[in-house]
Amino acid sequence: MKMRTVAVVGVLSALCVAIIIAVVVTSVSGAPAAQTGVVVTKAYVLFNIGVDKSGIVGSLDLSQDEPSSPVKINGTLTGLTPKGQHGFHVHESGDIRGGCASTRGHFNPKMLTHGAPGDETRHVGDLGNIMADDKGVAVINITDRMISLTGDNSVLGRAFIVHEKEDDLGKGGDDGSKKTGNAGGRLACGIIGVA
Ligand SMILES: *[C@@H]1O[C@H](CO)[C@@H](O)[C@H](O)[C@H]1NC(C)=O
Ligand SMILES: *[C@@H]1O[C@H](CO)[C@@H](O)[C@H](O)[C@H]1NC(C)=O
Repeated sequence: MKMRTVAVVGVLSALCVAIIIAVVVTSVSGAPAAQTGVVVTKAYVLFNIGVDKSGIVGSLDLSQDEPSSPVKINGTLTGLTPKGQHGFHVHESGDIRGGCASTRGHFNPKMLTHGAPGDETRHVGDLGNIMADDKGVAVINITDRMISLTGDNSVLGRAFIVHEKEDDLGKGGDDGSKKTGNAGGRLACGIIGVA
C-alpha cells in the first residue's frame, strides 16, 4: 500500500471510532431521569399554601402499592361552600408563582376531552367532584386507576385544584363541558409532593 492510502485509511478509522464514542456518550447522558427506575408509593398535598384567599384548609394522602395499582386518595378539606359539589382535578403544573391560576389546565398528557373519573376518554387529572356537607367539610376517599405516582401519568410535582362550581363531567352539552366541565374558578390549590 502506498503511504497516501495508509494515511486515508487511518483517518477514516479514527473518524469511525470518534463517531461510535459520540453516539454511546450521547445515548447514556441523554437518558431521561424518569427511566432510573424510582418507584414512588406515597405523596402528600397541603391546602392552603397561602396563594389563595379561599379559607379552604386541609390535606390529602395519596398511596399506590405498585406503579400499575390504583391510587388511593384520602383526606379532609374544610371551608368549602356548604352542601356543594366542587370540581376536583389534578392540573398540569405545580408552578404557583401566579397563584392557583398558573398551574395550567387539567393534566392531560394524551390530549383527550374532559370526562368523568369512570370514563375511558378523560383527562388523567379528571377526578370529578368532592361534596361538601352542611358545615363546608368534604371527606375525600377516592380510588383512581388512571393517575399514578410513577411513569407517564405521574401527578408528582403537579397541583390539585378545588373549583368553585360542580364539574358537569363532560356531559353539559357545550364546548366548555368537554374542556373543563364548566367547574368555574379555582378556589384553592395544593402541590403533590413525594411523601
Ligand atoms: C388517610 O388515611 C390514613 C389511614 O386511615 C390516615 O392515617 C391518614 O391520616 C389519612 N390522611 C389524611 C390526610 O387525612
Ligand atoms: C373508602 O372507599 C372504599 C371503597 O371505595 C371503602 O372500602 C372504604 O371503606 C372507604 N373508607 C372510608 C374511610 O370511608
